Amino acid sequence: MAGRDLPWRSTRAPYRIWLSEVMLQQTQVATVIPYYERFLESFPTVCDLAHAPIEAVIDLWAGLGYYSRARNLHRAAIEVFESFGGVFPSELEALMALPGVGRSTAGAIRSIAFDRKGPVLDGNVRRVLVRLVALRGDPRASKAEKLLWQWAEALTPETRPHDYAQAIMDLGATVCTPTRPACERCPWEDDCRARALNIEQSLPEKRPRKKTPEVRQVALVLRCGNRVWLQRRPYEGLLGGLWEFPTRELGEGVGALDSLEQLVRELGFCFPEDEAPRLLGGVRHIYSHFRLDLSLYELCLTQPSFKVAEGGGGQWTDIAELSSTALHGAHKKALPMLDSQG
Ligand code: ADE
Repeated sequence: MAGRDLPWRSTRAPYRIWLSEVMLQQTQVATVIPYYERFLESFPTVCDLAHAPIEAVIDLWAGLGYYSRARNLHRAAIEVFESFGGVFPSELEALMALPGVGRSTAGAIRSIAFDRKGPVLDGNVRRVLVRLVALRGDPRASKAEKLLWQWAEALTPETRPHDYAQAIMDLGATVCTPTRPACERCPWEDDCRARALNIEQSLPEKRPRKKTPEVRQVALVLRCGNRVWLQRRPYEGLLGGLWEFPTRELGEGVGALDSLEQLVRELGFCFPEDEAPRLLGGVRHIYSHFRLDLSLYELCLTQPSFKVAEGGGGQWTDIAELSSTALHGAHKKALPMLDSQG
């Protein structure tokens, strides 16, 4: 057996397979492993997950990225608990009806957990198939997508789909790699059209790159002694449920200091007469569809000079606790800029 020894390979439990497949959708194996293990320690069964508060799920997901996955995971667990009595369905349609489970993830769960035929077309498998048939052009174009699914379907065997799914994913991850594929170790070397044409290195063809927009933001590190003011982001939308320093987007020609003063007042604090926000530094962070240019400013409040707004969902947090708080990535990157003395 040349397969990789991975924590989710020692089980056939659909809950565990589903969890690993969702985590692996946009994240590398090495990053996923510790998250997968911590998640299962906190929520050993789908019923535990269904009954957990969403805050606890988001906190465990912090750092994995693509946070809608965590919200969908929680919703799907509730659905499995309520509609299926806590037992995962094995049919593709029922799996695909769960939030966050697409066609490829459904195929992976069906084949790996249930050993029933379920075609998979994730990034690694896509590369293998594109090379096997020497598919030119953008492999994400709808015509190519349709053909690739047909090939994935045709190649997936009725017998041992569990082994086949993991083998083809491993082939893509370890042999048919994006650069310098190890064709001499590939069981499909003699059948591979790209190899025969000596074009394996130039496939799949790159998609034309769109220019990623840049977003400028200011973040306010509002500080009182050794504590800073944090807010939870709304659960719906980008980075939903993560903590952050209060933040504003800077439009064209809008000054950072004006934005910060307004932000302080909107939060319900009195802007101190004798203090000005101090620039701590800048952070650049790349998300899937934009680049963030974030400037962080610190403003120190003395105890009597503030009042807390009604509601608003923020809280004072000890600076020493920030490194273990589910902060969003760009703000976590900025933590070394805060000195802990106050
Ligand atoms: N990527 C997606 N699913 C995977 C799996 N089950 N094992 C390894 N890598 C994967």
